[in-house]
Amino acid sequence: MKAIIIGATSGLGRGVAEALAAQGDTVGVAGRRIEMLQSIAQQYVEGQVVTQAMDVTSVEACTALDSLLQRLGAPDLLVYVAGIGFQNTQLDSEKELATVRTNCEGMVRVITHFVRYAVSCGAYHKGHKAHIAVVTSVATTAAMGAAPAYSASKRMESTYVTALVQLAHMQHWPLRFTDIRPGFVSTALLNPDKRYPLLMTTDQAVKHIMRGIRRRRRVVVFDIRYKIIVFFWKLVPRAIWERMTFVNN
Ligand SMILES: NC(=O)c1ccc[n+]([C@@H]2O[C@H](COP(=O)([O-])OP(=O)(O)OC[C@H]3O[C@@H](n4cnc5c(N)ncnc54)[C@H](OP(=O)(O)O)[C@@H]3O)[C@@H](O)[C@H]2O)c1
Repeated sequence: MKAIIIGATSGLGRGVAEALAAQGDTVGVAGRRIEMLQSIAQQYVEGQVVTQAMDVTSVEACTALDSLLQRLGAPDLLVYVAGIGFQNTQLDSEKELATVRTNCEGMVRVITHFVRYAVSCGAYHKGHKAHIAVVTSVATTAAMGAAPAYSASKRMESTYVTALVQLAHMQHWPLRFTDIRPGFVSTALLNPDKRYPLLMTTDQAVKHIMRGIRRRRRVVVFDIRYKIIVFFWKLVPRAIWERMTFVNN
């Protein structure tokens, strides 16, 4: 199998890239920190991991994706895992805007470019669909006062995927989508000085992500504890939700 991981330098993206490479897949890895991408490539035989510097907030991300597609050929799987997020209780607008640029604008830039490539390149058909997975969050299901842009951006990513599923169905495009919604995972995205409920290791989360992708799930929520929490918090009336306090800082 051939796969492209956008946001593969660290955390979940790196874990997924390494898991795919370890099972013998050819993997294209993208992100801003090229030295981190090279450190993945060095672990495998030459040519198995193809690296590409990419900043998803820049228009040049499309040229970077084209370069990766040219060197790799049409991938079976593209995972968009690039993302940033902050607890931003003081509402620093730069943090909010940076989050929107990476998680929303970056995701739309990369995914639209890839979809247009996939529907025109001739490599995909009903029996061989291009699989697009986007790592969103359980935060898609609830607005978080401590992280306004983050929770809204994750909701946007998830809604965008749903819209694309419908569009692909309308247009008979040979695409399938997976919306991956992790809970808290111990990566650089989280504040190391804070404690998080139901925290998972990156390895645990990557195993769930790999299983969801392999089984071609439409939505992946892991594990059962988060499924239960999400079920109940969706039932909380808005007037109560808006008065709930999750962090004090
Ligand atoms: N950790 C959690 O608890 C958690 C929970 C739910 C969802 N998620 C989601 O999982 C995804 C991955 O996060 P992580 O937890 O693995 O954190 P991470 O280790 O900080 O990884 C973030 C990745 O995104 C890439 N990235 C950020 N800005 C980028 C840009 N402008 N252009 C290209 N790549 C960019 C980073 O690469 P460079 O910095 O090298 O560019 C890095 O590879 C995010 O979308 C996050 O929202 C995480």
